[in-house]
Amino acid sequence: CGIVGYVGKRNSQNILIEGLKKLEYRGYDSAGLAVFTEEGLQIKKAKGRLVNLENKLDVEPLNGFIGIGHTRWATHGKPSDVNSHPHTDNSQKFSVVHNGIIENYVALKEELTALGHVFVSETDTEVISHLIASLYEGDIVKAVQKAVTRMHGAFALGVLTEYEPDKLVAVRYSSPLIIGVGEGENFIGSDIPAILEYTRNVYILNDGEMAVLTKDGVELMTLEGNFISRELFYVDWDIITAEKAGFDHFMLKEIYEQPKAYRDTMGSRIDESGTKVVLNEVKMTAEQVKSIQQVHIIACGTAYHAGLVGKSIIEKLARIPVETDVASEYRYRSPIITPNTLVIVVSQSGETADTLAALREAKRCGARVVAITNVVGSSVAREADDVIVTWAGPEIAVASTKAYTSQLIAFYLFGLYLAQTLGSQEAEYIASVVSELKELPAKVEQILEQGEAFKDWAEQVASHNNLFFIGRGLDYAVALEGSLKLKEISYIHSEAYPAGELKHGTLALIEEGVPVIALAIQDDLFEKTVSNIKEVKARGAYVFGLHAEGETELVKAVDQVFSIPHTLPLLSPALSVVPLQLLAYYASLARGNDVDKPRNLAKSVTVE
Ligand code: G6P
Repeated sequence: CGIVGYVGKRNSQNILIEGLKKLEYRGYDSAGLAVFTEEGLQIKKAKGRLVNLENKLDVEPLNGFIGIGHTRWATHGKPSDVNSHPHTDNSQKFSVVHNGIIENYVALKEELTALGHVFVSETDTEVISHLIASLYEGDIVKAVQKAVTRMHGAFALGVLTEYEPDKLVAVRYSSPLIIGVGEGENFIGSDIPAILEYTRNVYILNDGEMAVLTKDGVELMTLEGNFISRELFYVDWDIITAEKAGFDHFMLKEIYEQPKAYRDTMGSRIDESGTKVVLNEVKMTAEQVKSIQQVHIIACGTAYHAGLVGKSIIEKLARIPVETDVASEYRYRSPIITPNTLVIVVSQSGETADTLAALREAKRCGARVVAITNVVGSSVAREADDVIVTWAGPEIAVASTKAYTSQLIAFYLFGLYLAQTLGSQEAEYIASVVSELKELPAKVEQILEQGEAFKDWAEQVASHNNLFFIGRGLDYAVALEGSLKLKEISYIHSEAYPAGELKHGTLALIEEGVPVIALAIQDDLFEKTVSNIKEVKARGAYVFGLHAEGETELVKAVDQVFSIPHTLPLLSPALSVVPLQLLAYYASLARGNDVDKPRNLAKSVTVE
């Protein structure tokens, strides 16, 4: 979910709506605003996309100088008008927006019901507004502080009360929240893009902190009420990168931004001679690097798929054993973590609750944690020991593209850094990898120049309900990401399979006309992959093949083929995934789906 808040000299409605538009990627099954108007605290909310709320507001605007807003990704209670935020209490004098989960809401609800409170929604958030109302004794800050001591779980809150109409109270506890500081106006937001249009000066709240905003100032304090002083953080991102810039969808724009994202992520991390990697942000001593006995890579979704490639990179370059885990599984399988375990968490947003929980578990067990993230100042970035920032710029489309490929670049850099420090590879070999790495952005540009070619493939694929992606080694890791991309936005069921494993069961699903996307890029596995392609062809599959330029054999084995520029096999995922991103994009378009905001999903999932 996403929350925004405004207090200042301007009419708040439009500022809140614009903020919510920037946060819609965090959830979009309903939205709402609460504004302090001449008639008191008024709430308007609507199920569905933000535009439904805008239509309501066109007819009945909310005029006032202080307000809060919310865009929802349903956890407790289905998407509906009544389950939308903001929530209020029976007196309708309090209003709350919330991101996170209140784990003990059932017990609190029973307690408050016994006191005469009547609930209208199925949400955990409604309990918060009733709880605050029940604890209010003339000071909203104190009432919120008391309420949070009763709440278990994760929450970022924005709270208004009609009794103190100049104050906006914000709380952060395990869900992200930032404060924007303007002149004669102040803001809250789940994320920086929500307020970027109005100010670049922000305070990033830590867990267990709160803020009281009036139009003239911001007071920061702990949840116990101790005042905090903090430096303002100046955001120097380019606002244009948060807009569509002429592309039909954010996803397409972000696919086309990948060459820049690669260059920016490599940036000054390759030394002037072009033969070595310099990772100043990693503060490990050579002794610490040498003491690493195993690496655990933990992430969710697309970032997990980047981790699968990361495993091969680190094992090949540094010769250290690596395990990869989906973050929501990691903690519960009692992983063997020792002080000699290096844990790498990968997260575009740096706020994914599952990943953050895994990071904390790893730290609790004494591991050193390196974060690969796209958001400076995110929770993951702040809690890790070392942070490698991917300079992909804000990624808005729910389906991740440039963040994934920038994560791959970060893994190449980190793998090379480990190899240099450990001496596990010859300097000439490292120099050759670095030199090929620098060629990747131009090679992605070559693929993108032919991007429209995938429209045709995608239109053929879009009429099917089932298909397969196959590949071996790193091609399989990329196949997993290609399959996820297609599922997320086209809603076509697909499975990614190691090409050699298909014959052990899943081959039974291949019948006349079933599309198979075959990746045959890994040189050393090429012939074996071609044999597997022949197995599916013999059973009627229609095969789209991807191979490296200069390879002529694949053409004979498949129905259609696309070649990508040649690079080292280890680096090929950074190229071969691009056609698969385009395939998913055009398949989603062909099916008439909402590409940037697929059903049931959210870009950033801050609940476990
Ligand atoms: C959500 C998104 C995915 C993303 C995953 C992990 O589920 O829809 O696209 O891969 O979260 O996000 P993170 O920000 O941690 O990389």
